[in-house]
Amino acid sequence: MLKRKFGKTNLEVTPIGLGTWVFGGWPWNEINEKECEAALETAIGAGINLIDTAPIYGFGRSEEIVGRTLRRLKVREKIVLATKQGFSWDDGKKRNVRKDCSKKAVFREIDESLKRLQTDWIDIYQIHWPDENTPIGETMEAMLKLKDQGKIKVIGVCNYNAEQMKECLKYAPLESSQPPYNYFQRDIEKEILPFCIEHKFGTLTYGTLCKGLLTGKFGIDKKPNDPVRQQTWDPIFETKRYEECLAEIEKLKKQAAEENLTVGQWVIRWAINQPGVTCALVGARNPKQVKENTTI
Ligand SMILES: NC(=O)c1ccc[n+]([C@@H]2O[C@H](COP(=O)([O-])OP(=O)(O)OC[C@H]3O[C@@H](n4cnc5c(N)ncnc54)[C@H](OP(=O)(O)O)[C@@H]3O)[C@@H](O)[C@H]2O)c1
Repeated sequence: MLKRKFGKTNLEVTPIGLGTWVFGGWPWNEINEKECEAALETAIGAGINLIDTAPIYGFGRSEEIVGRTLRRLKVREKIVLATKQGFSWDDGKKRNVRKDCSKKAVFREIDESLKRLQTDWIDIYQIHWPDENTPIGETMEAMLKLKDQGKIKVIGVCNYNAEQMKECLKYAPLESSQPPYNYFQRDIEKEILPFCIEHKFGTLTYGTLCKGLLTGKFGIDKKPNDPVRQQTWDPIFETKRYEECLAEIEKLKKQAAEENLTVGQWVIRWAINQPGVTCALVGARNPKQVKENTTI
């Protein structure tokens, strides 16, 4: 797979990256950890070099699976590893998840992620969501310190709008942005992608398959049942909008078939060819899904 320069940084990434949110299990349907490890191995075998994870994905579970698999395969140096900061939680049954991008949380979380990921450095370290209770300057100064210490290579954010990214640039060399983007959800074309292009950021766009909806495997009577694909979590699964999407997917299927692709493959190809997209993140829970998603 041909690599692309990741914005102004020294990193080079494949246009498809493996997303590992699903490796955490809940709010997705339960996973098989061996299958997740095999999915990661298959992705690397297919040439993918960008892996995205986060502490909150299964409360450390996704990072642990990624960490032990990279260690077993002895491939850490070849991989561009992206993880995130920004959610704290309590141990025990009642997790009480809250946003926390304070300096203290940044310094604590980086060491926890390095341990789970069995590595000395993170290639792209991203603030997961804007935290209204912490000044952006405080978070960015902490990120800059981690970069100076060599614990992270590139400072990134996820889910920040253009104004928030502009604010970051006053304090630190922000070079990466991770917004949501797929064939159905294109809001970022208005301001976020143009901002990233103007500032020569590397971008990791997420949700390329619209949480699996764009694979064409669901139907009116085959609605997904896990929490992550309910209207409360993502409005696209509201019945009327969902049915409109299904109708559009039927049309896309025909177009994809003319190019000998499945609809999932077609929308992945669509995403990686959009202006401003450096790498489209695609989630997968097993090798079969990875194989389909990387054969484009
Ligand atoms: N920064 C953020 O706030 C944020 C938010 C969301 C995601 N992300 C990142 O972006 C990554 C990708 O997004 P995503 O995982 O939400 O969604 P996605 O890539 O749109 O969809 C992935 C899901 O679709 C299903 N799938 C994938 N390939 C398939 C295939 N070939 N056939 C059938 N089903 C298939 C799998 O779920 P099932 O098997 O359960 O159907 C898989 O977990 C995440 O893993 C994460 O790394 C970041």
